[in-house]
Amino acid sequence: MSEKTASLRESFISALATADTMEALEAIRVEYLGKKGLVTDLLKDMKNLSPEDKKTFGQAVNVLKEEVTEMIAAKREEIKKAEIERENSLMPEFDISTPANLDRGSYHPITLVQRQCEEIFKSMGFAVEDYSEIVTDYECFEALNIPKNHPARDMQDTYYLSNGQLLKSHTSAAQNAIYKKYKDALIREGKPIKAIFPGRCFRNEATDACHENTFFQMEGVMVDKNISISNLIFFMKTMLSEVFQKDIKVRLRPGFFPFVEPGFELDISCLICGGEGCASCKHSGWLELCPCGMIHPEVLKAGGIDPEEYTGFAFGLGLTRLAMMKYGVKDIRDLNSGSLKVLSQFTDDK
Ligand code: DAH
Repeated sequence: MSEKTASLRESFISALATADTMEALEAIRVEYLGKKGLVTDLLKDMKNLSPEDKKTFGQAVNVLKEEVTEMIAAKREEIKKAEIERENSLMPEFDISTPANLDRGSYHPITLVQRQCEEIFKSMGFAVEDYSEIVTDYECFEALNIPKNHPARDMQDTYYLSNGQLLKSHTSAAQNAIYKKYKDALIREGKPIKAIFPGRCFRNEATDACHENTFFQMEGVMVDKNISISNLIFFMKTMLSEVFQKDIKVRLRPGFFPFVEPGFELDISCLICGGEGCASCKHSGWLELCPCGMIHPEVLKAGGIDPEEYTGFAFGLGLTRLAMMKYGVKDIRDLNSGSLKVLSQFTDDK
């Protein structure tokens, strides 16, 4: 019987020598040590042996089993090591003593302000949504209660594509899609719609210190039962005092936007001139920062929400303007200049 264990041992050793991957090793393990494996199979012959022989044979099989288990474990380590060495040989060599690249880029001030606003609104339970820059006429205007030939379109002349789509002139263009996305959860589960959607906007506009053809806004909406203007004022005040880390002087004026009723202009006192009047605030001492209002019933309807049952507020925060205020940038054109001299001055902790 001992020849049987000896010959199985030999065949195992030569099989093991050919295994150079984990998969091949596993196949050998199953072949020898598996429930129906060759080592276990040996025990089948035991029944014909005398009790004395049974004992010696049983012991020999156990020794073989242990040996095979150990050899497999050792081989596993060997294969692992070879795999790591192979991976290392594919990696480019680098010198860890090289000094860090001190000319690293920095975040754009608008990115910094945007991220900060996102954090503030996220902490108040708002979802952050992304939306495309190319939208349809319906999304940008009609779903927002601005029909074709409405004079409100004059203020928002933008760039049109030959297929009739356009570069969005305001982040409000995403409102319709947001309502449609969240309305089922609102109606079926009573979950309020709370979302912000920052984005790049475009207008066919002559540029000066406070106008650009490309700028950033951040739209926000909240829809639920019994939402009122006081909810709107609360969220705006909380956000602005967090962004500026101090109490900011604000004023609310009536403002007309076809997609809200009533609509407001929320102005903040110009932080560049302290309210004295300068080119950035058109010498008024105030900067229009955040038009807002209660969402117009027609706009809710277009989004599939019953205005008899639900109300909501919306705001369109001028992120570009906010960045100018926060970092004291006097000319909006500097922000799109791509000039590293300007942009590398801003860091997270300013
Ligand atoms: N979309 C408007 C614009 O860019 C700004 C705006 C006004 C957004 C009122 C709103 C709002 O959500 O309620 O001129």
